[in-house]
Amino acid sequence: MKPGLGRQLHGKRILITGGGTGIGAATARACSSSGMQVMLSGRRSGPLERVVGEIEAAGGTASMRVGDVATPGASEALLNAMDETFGGTDAVFANAGYGIEKPVLEASPAEIRRIFDVNLVAAVDLMRATGLRLRAEGRPGHLIGCASILGKFTMPGYGLYSSTKAALTHVCRSMRCELHDDGIAVSSVHPVTTRTEFFEVAKKESGEGHGPVVQDGVPTHAPRMFVQSADVVAKAVVKCLRRPRAEVWTSPVGRLSAGIFELLPPVYEVVLRSEMRRKRREAASGR
Ligand SMILES: NC(=O)c1ccc[n+]([C@@H]2O[C@H](COP(=O)([O-])OP(=O)(O)OC[C@H]3O[C@@H](n4cnc5c(N)ncnc54)[C@H](OP(=O)(O)O)[C@@H]3O)[C@@H](O)[C@H]2O)c1
Repeated sequence: MKPGLGRQLHGKRILITGGGTGIGAATARACSSSGMQVMLSGRRSGPLERVVGEIEAAGGTASMRVGDVATPGASEALLNAMDETFGGTDAVFANAGYGIEKPVLEASPAEIRRIFDVNLVAAVDLMRATGLRLRAEGRPGHLIGCASILGKFTMPGYGLYSSTKAALTHVCRSMRCELHDDGIAVSSVHPVTTRTEFFEVAKKESGEGHGPVVQDGVPTHAPRMFVQSADVVAKAVVKCLRRPRAEVWTSPVGRLSAGIFELLPPVYEVVLRSEMRRKRREAASGR
C-alpha cells in the first residue's frame, strides 16, 4: 500500500493548526477547494471565524477550535473535536508556530522553552497522537509538519527558531520511515520568506531592541527572490496531500542554497559572518 490519502481528496478530513492566518489559512482554503473537510485551530477566535466563514460561503465544510497548541492535552482535544465533528481525521498539518530574532545569549530560558514547546513539542505531539489513532484504526493518512528553509541552515539571530525547525524536519524524516508500512505518509514543508503576520509577530516576540526590521510584511534582510505568498505554499501542500513527498519546497533557489550550505559549510560560515556584521552596522546606525 502506498502511504497517504491517494489522489482523491474529496471528503477527506484535515486538521490545520494555526489555521486562522497566513500559510494555515491559505492551506485551509486550498484544501476546502479540493473538497476536504477542514478543522482550524488557533488562540484567537476572530481570524478562525473569518476563514471558516469564507470556506462556508464558498460551499465548503469547516469548523474551528480555539486553544493553545502547547497546552497539555491539546492534541487529544483537537483530535476528539475532529471525531465529534467529522467522524475522524485523515490528515493533520502541524503548522502553528512563530519566530524570534535575537542572539542566543540574550534569550531567556523561558523564551527558549516556549519556542520549542510551540514549534516542536506541540507539532510532534499532534503528529504522534494522530499516527497512533490511524495505526490503531488500520487506516492510511498523512501527517505534515511545517518546518522552514531555516530548518536546513540558520542565520544570526535565528539559532533557536532554526533549531526547532531542524528538529521537526528530523522527526518527520524518522516518522516517515517508521509509518511507511502502515500507509501513513509523513512530510515536512520548507517555506522561504512568506508574506504573512509571521514577521510582525516575530518582532513582538523578540522583545525590545530585537526582531526583524519589517517592511511591507517581510524583513528587510530577506532577498526579494525568496519572497512568496501563502497561497504558493498552500498549493504545494495540497499537491503533497494528493501525491506525498518527503519534503515540500516552493523555491528551487531556496532548496539549492540550502543544499550548497549543507555541502560547503565554510561558504555558509562566510555568508553568516557577513550577515552578522551587517546586523551590527544596522544596530549601530539605530536600525
Ligand atoms: N512566513 C514565513 O516566512 C515562514 C517561513 C518558513 C516557515 N514558516 C512557518 O509557517 C508556519 C505558519 O506561519 P505563517 O507564516 O503563516 O505566520 P502566521 O500568520 O503568524 O501564522 C502562525 C499561526 O500559528 C498560530 N499560533 C501561533 N502560536 C500558537 C499557539 N501557541 N497555539 C495555537 N496556535 C498558535 C497563530 O494563531 P494565533 O496567534 O491566533 O494563535 C497563527 O494563525 C509557522 O510554523 C512558521 O514557522 C513561515
